[in-house]
Amino acid sequence: MATAPPSQQAALRAETRSEQILAWARQHLAGGDSSTMRVVPYHLPLVAVRGEGPLVWDADGNEILDMNMAYGPLILGHCPPAVIAAVCRQVSESGSQLGFPTEIAARVAEKLKRLYPHMELLRFANSGTEAMMFAARLARTATKRTHLVVMEGGYHGWSDALFHRYHAPLDQMSTGPYGPAIPGTLGMNGAPRDLLTVPYNNLDALEACLNDHADQIAAVIMEPVMGNAGVIPPAPGYLEGVRYLTREHESLLIFDEVISGLRVAAGGAQEIYGVTPDVTVVSKALGGGYPVAACGASRELMGLVVRGELFHGGVYAGNAVVMAAAEAVLDEILANPVQLYEKLNQASDALAHGLHDVMQRLGIPHVVQHVGAMCSLFLTDAPVPGGLRDYRAVRRHCDLEKYINFQHHAQRLGVYFHPNQFEPMYLSTTHEPHHIASALERIEEAAKQCLAD
Ligand SMILES: Cc1ncc(COP(=O)(O)O)c(C=O)c1O
Repeated sequence: MATAPPSQQAALRAETRSEQILAWARQHLAGGDSSTMRVVPYHLPLVAVRGEGPLVWDADGNEILDMNMAYGPLILGHCPPAVIAAVCRQVSESGSQLGFPTEIAARVAEKLKRLYPHMELLRFANSGTEAMMFAARLARTATKRTHLVVMEGGYHGWSDALFHRYHAPLDQMSTGPYGPAIPGTLGMNGAPRDLLTVPYNNLDALEACLNDHADQIAAVIMEPVMGNAGVIPPAPGYLEGVRYLTREHESLLIFDEVISGLRVAAGGAQEIYGVTPDVTVVSKALGGGYPVAACGASRELMGLVVRGELFHGGVYAGNAVVMAAAEAVLDEILANPVQLYEKLNQASDALAHGLHDVMQRLGIPHVVQHVGAMCSLFLTDAPVPGGLRDYRAVRRHCDLEKYINFQHHAQRLGVYFHPNQFEPMYLSTTHEPHHIASALERIEEAAKQCLAD
């Protein structure tokens, strides 16, 4: 009897429609999808077919309460009516891509500047990676310096300039107060060059790094609230200290607010903590599910681009579809920022308190940290008084396997957040109190199942 080829064998073994589609997709898409994070091997198979508000439905018809929200962009939920209407109107009445300057792009820039006033001039890009790559070049060009500093555990996209092994095991990290970045992947041919990593929330380490590399550091690049080592808020005075040190050393301060921008507050983490960087990048929430990023700075810095000394381009940069989406998101926010962020914060507070309560009742060591509508539950080896202040602490105390197991139980119970402990849970304005209550019930059940394993 003829046996099926390996591709079909996998599909035949698959039990669910999600598994079947993924087995088939792997024959055509490397790994089964176009982002490695979506197909990490410890991910339970889930092929999504539709989303609405805080819910997604998978290929088997299961309804899932989403607390990942596409890794953060869906601040207004899946299929936000105002965004969809704006995009449909733009595409059907005026076209998606005009290939000329448009008024809508200038309007979006003007509206974004109301929330991030230090961005006197800005440029749009298609992704956080692109905008961060541009920010790095801007800093090196403006300061005529070579080196960049990023935080351990900080991710700024996968460009050669900035992609470092941000989740390196502790035994592979430098033993000094700071050290050279480890390349993030094969094929970087020596990059990232002149990239140094320092621990977050540690001004002494940053100062040592800036002193040792006097006149070399073009910029300190950071998420003002860490989001890629789980959620880590800045310690009181830390961002002010970074601002002071970067000014002292005439280095630029670049805030990567790809996640926190328009999420933790309309004006991002810089609004909450009152610290203004030289360059800001925002992305995810700005598009509400459409691929857009913005990088902005003072008129003086951006003069490099205006004069054509620093090149920035992109056929699709600032295209009309994503501009329509971004304008709709900004209009929703600008119309009622107080109410919108109160709702997001209330949902996130309820989630954070509920997670803590569940884990405490069940005697599971944990730490919950959240800022605005980004929240991390860390499953730790023991209670960690004072919380987790940097990537090394997360890595030292957190049991990544335990979290994966917990996430699998939760996903089977119909609530989704990413199985990687370092990915925050994200909420949207469509997460009502009853969604949070339902998520917490299922999370409690998942935690009990973990204890019984
Ligand atoms: C803080 C931060 N910066 C940059 C990026 C890269 O953005 P993108 O995936 O849109 O290229 C990400 C992506 O998750 C991010 O979290």
